[in-house]
This record gives sequence, structure tokens and C-alpha cells, in this order.
Amino acid sequence: MDTEALYRAAHLLKKTQHAVALTGAGVSVESGIPPFRGRGGLWERYDPEKVASLRGFRRDPGAFWEFAQTLMGPMEAQPNPGHEALACLEERGLLQAVLTQNIDGLHQKAGSQKVLELHGSLEQVYCLHCGLEFSWSEALKIMADKGQCQDCASPYLKPDIVFFGEALPEDVLQAAFWEARNCEVFLVIGSSLEVYPVAQLPAVARDEGAKTILINRDRVFGEREFDVILRGNAKTILPRLLELWES
Ligand code: OAD
Repeated sequence: MDTEALYRAAHLLKKTQHAVALTGAGVSVESGIPPFRGRGGLWERYDPEKVASLRGFRRDPGAFWEFAQTLMGPMEAQPNPGHEALACLEERGLLQAVLTQNIDGLHQKAGSQKVLELHGSLEQVYCLHCGLEFSWSEALKIMADKGQCQDCASPYLKPDIVFFGEALPEDVLQAAFWEARNCEVFLVIGSSLEVYPVAQLPAVARDEGAKTILINRDRVFGEREFDVILRGNAKTILPRLLELWES
């Protein structure tokens, strides 16, 4: 770990009471959930157009539900010390919001209160035909068994997540932009910053004068724009940052 960079990040955090974090799949890797890109990424094994796009879903909802067996992990996964450190920073009054692209619910499980889920969540599943609601585990069972809605026999049971080709929930997106514009320190943790519009948020924060900190295992596009880069695992770096901030 780059200790000097860690001290610089802690110093930036000590000077503010208004930090905001943006998280991606990397923060949940150490909870056993695979990322999408890079080493061990889901998109090495699955075609996102087939399993995670609106067009693919319309053509073959079964392909999504097969892929969903891989996504089942989130329901059993537990938060790791990275999620816990973020919840702690919020409780102590430093972190004002977590903006997340993750659909796994782990920030909430760790105790974070203000979480903006930009790509939705797996909690609710709807039948696109009759609107009947299911929990994620109910829907998984139904789709593995009969493969259709028990009420109207439609095969189009869709979780409340954002597929490629779909717009992000407008209210959540606006709220996330507001948080980015109004913070003093903007942290990005475990995201490749390859998916828009979320990838714009660090620049939005920067344009309004915020300092930016990146915590990521690998290099990401545009990382030179960040004030501090902490290369490594979120699970290790976040608790260490919390410790230094408190000291
Ligand atoms: P990605 O999978 O694109 O990027 C995850 C990033 O986390 C990579 O840059 C890794 O280097 C890094 N990483 C991996 N393990 C890490 C660890 N232990 N600690 C810190 N960093 C780690 O995930 P996202 O950026 O979240 O959207 O992906 C954005 C969106 O693309 C997802 O929400 C999903 C996907 O397609 C939709 O499905 C709409």
C-alpha cells in the first residue's frame, strides 16, 4: 500500500465534513461477488448483450434467468470491512451519501443509511405483463421451475435493475448529480468508470471544486484526473483510511 498516498487521502478527509462515495463492483469482490470487467470479470464469461440488455431480455428472458444463478450470490453474500468502513464514516458524520452501481444491497446490510442505487436492486421482481411482484428468491424458484408468471403465464419476469438500453431511474440520477455537485471530497471505490452516465460523476464533482480520491485494484481510464490514487483492495484500504482519519 502507498502509505504516503494514504496519508494524503486521510488529510483531505480530515479537512471536510462533506464527503460522498461512489462505489462499483470492486467493493463487493471481497464479499465473493465477481466484478464485470477485468480479471475474473463476468463479461469474460457472459455476453452482456444476451444476458443484461433490454433487447436480449425481450428476445430470451430465460438467458437472463440462467445468468441470474450467478447473481444469486448477492443474496447470500455478507458485507466486508470495506462496506463497514463506509457505514462507519457515515455514522461519524463525514460521509453524506453512498452512490452505488451495485445491486447487491451490501451497503445497506453494512449499516449505510443514505444509499442511492443508480442501477437498481435485486430486491423486487415484476411481471412485465401483469405487474405481479415477487421477491428475488421467489422469482428464481418460479423461473427455474415453470419459467413463467404464475398469474398470467408471461415469461417476462424482470428484476428492478437497469439493463443496458434502459434509462437510469431519473430521481436517483438527479439526486446523485446533486451529491456530486455539493460535496467537498468525492471518493470512487472499485469502479472501472466505463459505464455512463455514472462515469461522469467524478468530473461533475471536480468541476464544482471537490477533491477526488480513487481506490481501485487496477488502473482505470481517466485516473490521472484524481487528486489521490490508492491502488489495492477496498477491503484493506478503507478500514486503514478510517483509522488514519480518526487518529
Ligand atoms: P467493473 O467490473 O466494470 O469494475 C470493477 C473495478 O473494480 C475494476 O476496475 C477492478 O480493477 C476493481 N476491483 C476489483 N476488485 C477490487 C477490490 N477488491 N478492491 C478495489 N477494486 C477492485 O464494475 P463497475 O464499474 O461497477 O451495469 O461496472 C459498472 C456497471 O457495468 C455495472 O453496474 C453493470 C456493468 O455492466 C449494468 O449492468 C447496467
